[in-house]
Amino acid sequence: MNAAVEISPASAAGSSGPLEMQHQWLPFTPNRDFKADPKMFSSAHGVYYRDMAGKPVLDGCSGLFSTPAGHGRTEIADAVRDQILALDFTPSFFRSHPKSFEAASRIAALLPPQLNRIFFASSGSEAVDTAMKLALAYHRARKEASRTMFVSRDRAYHGVNFGGTALSGLVNNRRVFGSTVTGVVHMRHTWLAENRFAVGQPVSGAELADDLARYVQVYGAENIAACFVEPIAGSTGALIPPVGYLERLREICTKHGILLVFDEVICGFGRTGEAFGAQSFGVTPDMITMAKAMTNGAIPMSAVAIREEIHQTIMEAAPAGDIEFFHGYTYSAHPVSCAAAISALEIYAAEDLFARARRMSPYFLERLFSLAGHPEVTDIRGFGMMGAVDIKPGTKPGQRGYQFQKRLFERGLHLKTTGDCAIVAPPFVMSRQQIDEVVAILSETLSVLE
Ligand SMILES: Cc1ncc(COP(=O)(O)O)c(C=O)c1O
Repeated sequence: MNAAVEISPASAAGSSGPLEMQHQWLPFTPNRDFKADPKMFSSAHGVYYRDMAGKPVLDGCSGLFSTPAGHGRTEIADAVRDQILALDFTPSFFRSHPKSFEAASRIAALLPPQLNRIFFASSGSEAVDTAMKLALAYHRARKEASRTMFVSRDRAYHGVNFGGTALSGLVNNRRVFGSTVTGVVHMRHTWLAENRFAVGQPVSGAELADDLARYVQVYGAENIAACFVEPIAGSTGALIPPVGYLERLREICTKHGILLVFDEVICGFGRTGEAFGAQSFGVTPDMITMAKAMTNGAIPMSAVAIREEIHQTIMEAAPAGDIEFFHGYTYSAHPVSCAAAISALEIYAAEDLFARARRMSPYFLERLFSLAGHPEVTDIRGFGMMGAVDIKPGTKPGQRGYQFQKRLFERGLHLKTTGDCAIVAPPFVMSRQQIDEVVAILSETLSVLE
């Protein structure tokens, strides 16, 4: 295969001539297909990317749920540059720097007050694995070391490290490597045919949370460490929790001493209209994982927010002077990430972006659900500034979704698809007109889909 693609020198952001493509192995991408027909970006500003020919591509997915404040924010660029020149790197073990504490305090201020201890990592996957280890460490500290099982959910996505892969409920992500970490059981997902085209939280399905109670009966609560759920299951296609479902999970966890972990890597930082899904849905978990929008996507960074009582228990179980939690990353609380996070949080506050997401949501959902009558569309879901459109599958699941996503790009719209579902998650700074444009391109492209 010829992997050298001719890119116009003017648009290739610094490179000229044929671009050698054989060396990079792209993640979660059909590499051979991509390299035969690359879909790349050369720049981004506001809510638009530009493709390699300089044509604008509207960003209907905040990149990958990461850039609610829009692209190319000079405040973050300045903060990052200043930080690199002032203090580019600090070892994260036995050393730290003031911005790490400032970032932690600012994040804690956005969270439910009980979740006021923050452990930093660099990716959502790392945050998930960190939360799994914290759950194990907590139960061991309480002398309940038999609690080693985890409960997750069909259609869940919790990243790709071994812990998160085991939690995953997406078969393609699991089938090759999912069985390496054992002791994970999956509840049913919350998509129900009777809830199709429900705007916001569907009314049926709270009883699906009783799957957790059933696992307590089958395995014994004394063996279960934690239950992981995304408040809205994002990557699989925005499955909104039925009314009462998260509350029921909370009740069962509390009754049986199981930790409830919300993976808010997508929901966090305003996507649901409040800072976190925990607040939008009025349910407080024991830990929250977060990443992506933490720095408006500009620099990799993630965190786990931990209930004070869990932190205290782990601290007190260790002899004075000992390391309390044998875990961490070279890039935990990296000074440049912290500077980017502080700057992003300042933007969110100064522009009141979470409230903007909340105000814009009804318009966004109304426009998205206008696609309901389209013969290609089999379901639409949405909450806050996240929605999803299921299209009719072809003979091979996912094939039409993949084609759909390519055709959308050619028509000037960037979206993520999973299987035969297109996920829409606009930057919060998008105008009504731009939301109209997203929906118009979706509608036109659906009409020509083969
Ligand atoms: C809910 C959830 N958890 C974890 C992850 C993994 O994050 P990362 O790709 O940064 O490792 C993602 C990524 O989309 C996610 O949506």
